[in-house]
Amino acid sequence: MRKYIVAGNWKMNKSLAEGIRLAEEVNAAVEKAGELKCEVVIAPPFLHLTEVSKVVGKKVSLAAQNCAAEASGAYTGEVSAGMLQSAGIPYVITGHSERRTYYGETDAILAKKTAQALASGLKVIFCIGEELSQRDSGKYFETVKSQIENGLFQLSAAEFKNIVIAYEPVWAIGTGRTATSGQAQEVHAFIRKILAGKYGQQVADDVAILYGGSCNENNAGELFAQPDIDGGLIGGASLTAEKFIRIVTAF
Ligand code: PGA
Repeated sequence: MRKYIVAGNWKMNKSLAEGIRLAEEVNAAVEKAGELKCEVVIAPPFLHLTEVSKVVGKKVSLAAQNCAAEASGAYTGEVSAGMLQSAGIPYVITGHSERRTYYGETDAILAKKTAQALASGLKVIFCIGEELSQRDSGKYFETVKSQIENGLFQLSAAEFKNIVIAYEPVWAIGTGRTATSGQAQEVHAFIRKILAGKYGQQVADDVAILYGGSCNENNAGELFAQPDIDGGLIGGASLTAEKFIRIVTAF
């Protein structure tokens, strides 16, 4: 059985004090919510990770938003997957569309980052998703297929156990224009089919595929009710504990 996950991507938001406060609020809300159907993950900025780790309990896991493509050495400004592992951070996000678009991260770079993360013992939330022009021209299947093939298909079936996929159509990120549950389900089912073709049905059935892009406390329930949507990667709505917990409990 695959896991359900709701992950909050804080992006470049919150001062350190604000981040600690938000993590405390999320942790308290998760504790209060009792038995949950999903794993809860939050992804604060690098600088906040170790401080935030001191204020959350076992029911909230941490993710970094990025990691280096190299293991160590003269790469000024970078943070390696091994450093994250040494700080007790279990997850890292790779391939977010903002990294692809603003920082020129290609499929080849993302394949290296993902390999570094897995080699360091991290679990990877690997993001894919088409741009608006690709959606409008009907090329979205092609886009997500090539992102998966070029970013992940170098991995073995055993390595794939530590991969979570987040389908985030770029046109839905931060725009308030979420994909309909039908649009999201269509792509999620397609992703699972591609994975089954490469790794077999069991691996495909075990992979958690999250939806991201203007997912909020009002639409999460309908999205998560789809058979191939196993949770969400939440940006804006993860910056308020009250909204985020409503998404966590939307299953
Ligand atoms: P959003 O961002 O929820 O603000 O649209 C999602 C994401 O980028 O992960």
